[in-house]
Amino acid sequence: MNPIYRPTWAEINLDHLWYNYLEAQKELKNKTIIPVIKANAYGFGAIEVMKHLYHKGVRIAAVSLLEEAIELRTVFKDIEILMLGPVMAKDLSVASEYKIDVTIYDQEIYEAIRLFNKPIGCHLKIDSGMSRYGLNEPNQIIRIVDELSNSTHIDLKGIFTHFATANENLAFYQMQLERFKAIISQIKKRPRMIHISNSSSTFKYEKDYDFTTHVRLGISLYGLSLDDPKPDLKPVMSLKSTVVQIKELKIGECVGYGATYCPKDDEKIAILPIGYADGFIRRNKTGYVEIREKKYKIVGIICMDACFIKIDDQVQLGDVATLYGGLISIDEVAKRLGTINYEVCTSLSYRVPRVVKVGGKHD
Ligand SMILES: Cc1ncc(COP(=O)(O)O)c(C=O)c1O
Repeated sequence: MNPIYRPTWAEINLDHLWYNYLEAQKELKNKTIIPVIKANAYGFGAIEVMKHLYHKGVRIAAVSLLEEAIELRTVFKDIEILMLGPVMAKDLSVASEYKIDVTIYDQEIYEAIRLFNKPIGCHLKIDSGMSRYGLNEPNQIIRIVDELSNSTHIDLKGIFTHFATANENLAFYQMQLERFKAIISQIKKRPRMIHISNSSSTFKYEKDYDFTTHVRLGISLYGLSLDDPKPDLKPVMSLKSTVVQIKELKIGECVGYGATYCPKDDEKIAILPIGYADGFIRRNKTGYVEIREKKYKIVGIICMDACFIKIDDQVQLGDVATLYGGLISIDEVAKRLGTINYEVCTSLSYRVPRVVKVGGKHD
């Protein structure tokens, strides 16, 4: 790991990550979890997350981009890597070289794969109603699967779909499910992997399905969920910074850009070296941070590299402040920002070092 100098970091608890994995596995009997570690494992650190999963025996992962797949392959030589996003025809030789399984998402990429003369693994994606990537014409899908079952260079490993509303609209979910089932029931020779569930569907419905073999698990691995009630998951990330300076403001003095916060009384302000360039965006200014197990209000405008906290005499120079992952959950921050937990964690920028905690200790 690169040396860390800045007193701001995200603590990643890999014991909790594994706990969450096992909680999902309980729903699945002998089906296999495909951990979704796209977007730097949703901001939690793809290589460190995969190292831990690998150490526990996991040999498969899914990402979105070819770049993400190659980054993984460079470290993990013997895992299956599924690229969920759209591969470009010009890049098939790169995917083949790095043994990355690509997604057949439309007729054009299917033609390109068919004409490609090197070995390549792939999964066919059915668009069952989300209108994102995938084929939706049943006859076309059945014909492609049929043709691929005779191919000598293309290994069709799986067929999958993705749900738009697993956590909210049951009728729409069921419509997608029925469309998918109707198509695969007509496929004579099914590939060895059939996967439809994301986190929400894994915990809510997957145990009812006898036709699937795998699930693709993202957000719940990281201890988060959009479901209510939530599955029993443990939080994996806490974002921390340090009180590096304390200012004693006198009446009439103001804080930060725009001088927007000018207290009416003498007041103490702590400065934390974390700002919007770290993904702690300006809209967080209405929120709180935790110091010494107490919540303190963010004041003024959040800078690129710093923010201001109204404190009391209990707070000392050098105290650790937890921006989320302690008293303040990622869900609370998402609510504050009018977004979802996925966006909060994936927005944490590359500048914030991810510090791994495993076996109750820092690695
Ligand atoms: C195709 C696909 N499968 C699985 C997942 C994982 O979903 P979740 O994070 O809700 O488990 C995603 C995430 O966006 C996805 O795009």
